[in-house]
Parts: sequence; structure tokens; C-alpha cells
Amino acid sequence: MKKQVCISEIGPRDGFQNVEEFIPTEVKLRIIDGIIASGVKRVQITSFVSPKAIPQMQDAGEVVTECLHKYPDTSFYALVPNLRGAENAAKHGLKEVSAVISVSESHNMANVKKTLDESFAQLKEMIDSFPQMHIILDAATAFGCPVQGITPYESLKSYMERARVLGIDSCTVCDTIGAASPNQVREYFTQLRKDFPEIAFGAHIHDTRNMGMFNTFVAVECGVSHVEVALGGLGGCPFAQGASGNTSTEDFVYMLHDMGWGTGIDFDKLLATAMYAKEHVQGNFSGHHINITRNHRVQ
Ligand code: COA
Ligand code: ZN
Repeated sequence: MKKQVCISEIGPRDGFQNVEEFIPTEVKLRIIDGIIASGVKRVQITSFVSPKAIPQMQDAGEVVTECLHKYPDTSFYALVPNLRGAENAAKHGLKEVSAVISVSESHNMANVKKTLDESFAQLKEMIDSFPQMHIILDAATAFGCPVQGITPYESLKSYMERARVLGIDSCTVCDTIGAASPNQVREYFTQLRKDFPEIAFGAHIHDTRNMGMFNTFVAVECGVSHVEVALGGLGGCPFAQGASGNTSTEDFVYMLHDMGWGTGIDFDKLLATAMYAKEHVQGNFSGHHINITRNHRVQ
């Protein structure tokens, strides 16, 4: 039996949110079609945010309605920055959301315009208001922040203690600006699993310093419940200067398969979808396989 990794595709949210030119909803949906046809089982398809903050996500409701109708067996979720976002997600039939709160107070203020106290108070309200909704906590800037520098483990630990009190059972630990080193990733995940054995941890890594693949793989070795990666390596945070793309899904899947891990994903179909995305979306695709000419492929 191969060891399995749960791949969560987040390109339609983290990738698209950084693209300035509006991507027509049909193009978004076609890319999601390709992602699902390649065997991905979990997709973060959009975010319910203020259209003034991120105009690209203004069609969130339409994307969710279409996807839920077409793919009842796929696990879809969306990012929400506040209670209003969770309300909209629930209204459109989603059963799972990631609620984003940064570990760093300064990034939280830049991203969602709230103090950590205000954000955690709102998370409690979200949990109380939507008991049927599975809320994953997105711990942004868990490894480093553009303003506050490296995030000490103790800050992440006290943040997680606040989450535990609220009954959070799943948390995606995010290297929002791609500041982590492999040692830090290993240390933080090992420690988190020891300190919070009742919580499932996922990893979300950016490739700013060319360590995305390595850091994401270290997280897998540490036993994370899922990894969030983005098609074509598209991605970044509009509220964290200098942050670049996510670990590319197809590059990561290729490496995992080569190393004997199972993902349930068809690499060729995924790559074809990434190529389609690159052709139709005006973004900064940092993936490697999408830039290899056919002659140089070994598969
Ligand atoms: N969905 C849609 N609209 C929303 C909303 C949501 N979740 N939350 C707020 N709004 C609207 C309000 O209705 C208001 O609209 P109006 O000006 O037409 O009345 C406007 O946005 C501002 O609302 P306010 O509550 O004052 O929010 P704010 O200006 O303090 O902005 C956020 C806070 C969090 C809503 C906004 O900064 C945001 O959506 N940020 C996106 C964060 C993000 O996605 N980051 C990248 C991923 S980590
Ligand atoms: Zn991200």
C-alpha cells in the first residue's frame, strides 16, 4: 500500500485572488472542471470577501452554486475573512470554510482590518451561528510576517490555545509570505502535533524563496492531514508585499508520485489543466512543468 497524501487545490482562490484582470466565471469553472477531472477531491474554489478588497472574487456565489450542482461528491470550501463571509458561504450551500486569522497582529490588521481579539471574538460568533459548518482555521503568517519578522513558536502556540478553547479541530498552518525554512517547518509541525494532538493540521506554503516544494514535503513527512497547493504555482497575498506563488500542485504531485506516494491524481490531466490556466489567465505562474517544452518531458 502506497502512503497517501490529501491534496487540496487552492488555485481558484489563492491563485486567482492575485490576478488583476477579471477572469470570466466560465474560465474559472472550466479550470475547476479540469482539476476535478484529474482526480483532485478537495478544492478551495473561491472566497467570500468584500468585492472592494478583492474584486476578482465578486462571482463567489455563482462559482459555488455551479460547482455544488455539478459535483456533489467533491469536497469544496471557501475562505472567509469575517462573519458576513461565513453567512454568504452558508447561504450558497457550502458546508466547509476556512476562516483566516493571522498569527501576527500586524498582518491581521492589514488583511482583515481587525485585532486578534476582534478576530477570535468573531470566530466564536461564527462557530455559534453556524454549528453545521465545518470551520477550518487558517493560521496566516504562522512562520513569518512581512512586518513582525519570524513568528516565534510560542506565538503560534498561544494562538492555537485560543483556537482550542473555541473547539477548532482543524487548522491550516500557512507560510503566507514563504518565509519558512525546512527546519522550522519540521520543528513547528512536530511541536504542534505534540501540543495539540486533538487538532488536524494542514500545510499551506508559498514559494517566495524557492523552498516551497521542500517545505511542503517536510510537512507531509510530519504527518499533516492535508496540503494546500495551487495549480501552476499561482498565488500570493495581496496584503503581504513580496509574497509569491504557492507550491505548484502539478510539480508537487509529480514529485510525490516519483517518490512512491499516492495522491489519486492523474498528473497528465492536471498538467493539461495548468497549461489551460496559463493560456487563459493573466497571472504569474511560477510552476516548472508548465514551462517545459514537450520534447523535454520524460512522461
Ligand atoms: N463579503 C462581501 N462583502 C463584505 C464582506 C464579505 N465577507 N465583509 C464586508 N463586506 C462589505 C461591507 O458590506 C461593506 O460594503 P459597503 O461599503 O458597500 O457598505 C464593505 O465590504 C466594508 O465592510 P467593513 O465591515 O467595514 O469591512 P472592512 O472595510 O473593514 O474590510 C474585510 C474588512 C475583511 C471585509 C475586507 O478587508 C476583506 O474582505 N478582505 C479580504 C481579505 C483576503 O481575502 N485576504 C487574502 C486572503 S488571506
Ligand atoms: Zn496563501
